[in-house]
Amino acid sequence: VSKDPTFCGMPLKYVSLVTLAVQNASLSIVMHYSRVSTPPHLSYSPASAVLLGEIIKGTISFLIALWKAQDADRPLSSRRSFCSIIYALAPWSAPFRQVCSEIFSTDCWKLSIPALLYVVQNSLQFVAIGNLPVASFQVAYQMKILTTAAFSVLLLRRKLSSTKWLSLFFLAIGVGIVQVQTSTSSTSPREIRVGSAHDAAPLHVHIMSPLKGFGAVTAACFTSGLAGVYFEMVLKNSKADLWVRNVQLSLFSLLPAIAPILYAPRYYTSDGLISFMFRNFGGWAWATVVIQVIGGLITAVVIKYSDNILKGFATSISIILSFLSSVVLFDFHVTLSFVIGASTVLAATAMYNQPPLKEPHIAMSSGCI
Ligand code: C5P
Repeated sequence: VSKDPTFCGMPLKYVSLVTLAVQNASLSIVMHYSRVSTPPHLSYSPASAVLLGEIIKGTISFLIALWKAQDADRPLSSRRSFCSIIYALAPWSAPFRQVCSEIFSTDCWKLSIPALLYVVQNSLQFVAIGNLPVASFQVAYQMKILTTAAFSVLLLRRKLSSTKWLSLFFLAIGVGIVQVQTSTSSTSPREIRVGSAHDAAPLHVHIMSPLKGFGAVTAACFTSGLAGVYFEMVLKNSKADLWVRNVQLSLFSLLPAIAPILYAPRYYTSDGLISFMFRNFGGWAWATVVIQVIGGLITAVVIKYSDNILKGFATSISIILSFLSSVVLFDFHVTLSFVIGASTVLAATAMYNQPPLKEPHIAMSSGCI
């Protein structure tokens, strides 16, 4: 029986839960700020952020896969020494060749589907977060529990208890309340003021379109559900290492991630591709990329070492964190219907994540539902 892995003496499960909650909340706040704090002509390209995220995530996953592979063919005494890690980076080393052969295995094409879906999802997130208040985005994004459950039933033939179906029904109602409230609180696109008269930067008004935001978040929930379930199917039906799968995911993401950059209108600039990619790419854009990369890596760890219960709770905790911080940071106005909708979503998530009393064994290798 393998012992639960630990991180600094604490169970990795709980470390990943807390980190995922904080990551979820901070991503939506930082991403929102990075989109609304500058006028459109000075904002960075979300496509570049998605591409950079995939490159960094893939590189880190590759290094982890190498780190793990070098252990396999070495005696205990020489494992994970600095020299052995440097050695593993050499293309002729056994670990390097082993990881590469696993990455380019015959079944690697299977990752192309979730890779495409995740690129679409990550891009839609930018549209959603730029057009919705952070708290409303977080609540609406909980709909991915519903889509994941639906795809699990459809593709994995998983059975859900009546309590879970009921909680999904409440989840939809809760999201519906927040959605209707946010969309109808202003008939025209909303304006938010960024900066103050005392700031060095001039006051800038950002126009948000809640309908566009909800459209994007709904589509992102579908891709999240489908990609999650598909990734779970691929993981379960093979013995390949999770980090190798992550590298495959990132490699297949490169094409769909670079396509929008290559086809972006660049007529008004004589910049080369690289300088076009990094135009207006300031600290907030980099922070968004880094937090997204951390999220991808933690999601992989959660999928491997925990279960759906932890992932569900992590996202519900992040609703509260985002909600509290948007009241403080973005002057978010709390309405009664928002509180009712958000509480319904939280209660539904908690209900969905109740440990089954006498449910048949649901073996999960992925933290999807
Ligand atoms: O919200 P959801 O859990 O669907 O988000 C998954 C996020 O984690 C996406 O941004 C996706 O790119 C990332 N991910 C990853 N590696 C995996 C699974 C997901 O980077 N193996």
